[in-house]
Amino acid sequence: ARTLRLGIAGLGTVGASVVRMIERRAEALSAATGATIRVTAVSARDAKRDRGIDLSGFTWFDDPVALARSAEVDCVVELVGGSEGAAKEIVEAALAAGKHVVTANKALLAHHGNALAKMAETRGVTLAYEASVAGGIPVIKAIREGLAGNAVSRVYGIMNGTCNYILSRMEAEGLTFEACLKDAQALGYAEADPTFDVEGFDTAHKLAILTSLVFGVEIDVEGVSVEGISAIQPLDLTMADELGYRIKLLGVAQATEAGIEQRVHPTMVPKASAIAQVMGVTNAVTIDADAIKELTLIGPGAGGDATASAVVADIADVAAGLVRPTFGKPVTQLAASRRVEMQRH
Ligand code: NDP
Ligand code: HSE
Repeated sequence: ARTLRLGIAGLGTVGASVVRMIERRAEALSAATGATIRVTAVSARDAKRDRGIDLSGFTWFDDPVALARSAEVDCVVELVGGSEGAAKEIVEAALAAGKHVVTANKALLAHHGNALAKMAETRGVTLAYEASVAGGIPVIKAIREGLAGNAVSRVYGIMNGTCNYILSRMEAEGLTFEACLKDAQALGYAEADPTFDVEGFDTAHKLAILTSLVFGVEIDVEGVSVEGISAIQPLDLTMADELGYRIKLLGVAQATEAGIEQRVHPTMVPKASAIAQVMGVTNAVTIDADAIKELTLIGPGAGGDATASAVVADIADVAAGLVRPTFGKPVTQLAASRRVEMQRH
């Protein structure tokens, strides 16, 4: 049988969960893909840190770019994070060496996805990113494969687990913003710099990726109008409640006659609506399309195991030999995004 040799760069919340899941699900993954999936190499900053996993069977790399180029790796799994620096160097080095890449890094894709997809497609390798949007919800596959026969007019939803967790607990338990954020960080939901979560940039990254996928356009993250939740006070939630609403941080992308509108902002949603029932770290993504009319996917938006589930699904695709255009069609066929400038509220 074939063997897919993985090099995992980043062994934090998501990376450590991926290593455990590959071991735990080895037999099922082999049956599903016809290949043996084996972690051969790993890299992180601190070689001494206890990660609750046995690393003795893997080659340790202090330099993750050397891991990306290593001859003992067929597929690089980038779980370091950040749009610049190490993560970008790892992915570029891997693609340049003709290796498949699996990543959970929405910041990297939002800022460099067009160029990276071109590199992958030029070399005939996969750049897979299921975990980058909505954690454990298989939203990329649902849209790219499951809705291939549809013309999509709008995609929107709750795409940041940290913000939804904070808003839910502030409302239900009367806790402060700061206390809720601290808990979200302790649970492994927040970004290394939580400003990305609470100021709405993480949702903007995810929305920009979905926009490219559903509308067949190049990623245009600069075209997203962004407002986060850091200014939301307990009083805002109380007032919304009294009026029959909840406040949710939504990302919305829709095709209009003037172009594509992309926006992220706190939104008052009626308490009786389906989206208002989505609480805690849970995400919900709704797609409006001509054939299916409306589809909503709801599930865990962040956390080690939930995110590892999406990463491992991509690894399984690579092991099975599936190579697809990154954003649903070859990057050379993506249209330039015609942007609608949005007013900030
Ligand atoms: P963590 O901060 O927990 O882990 C990051 C890992 O990268 C750590 O192991 C760290 O090493 C390593 N690292 C950081 N810088 C370097 C470097 N320069 N060279 C080598 N290794 C480095 O992050 P997460 O696991 O939470 O997130 C990883 C990625 O997954 C990010 O892109 C994030 O946006 C994305 N993601 C995260 C989700 C979540 O719920 N946490 C959900 C969906 C996506 P060390 O451990 O030694 O410090
Ligand atoms: N920080 C992100 C969130 C991780 O809270 O949704 C999942 O992408």
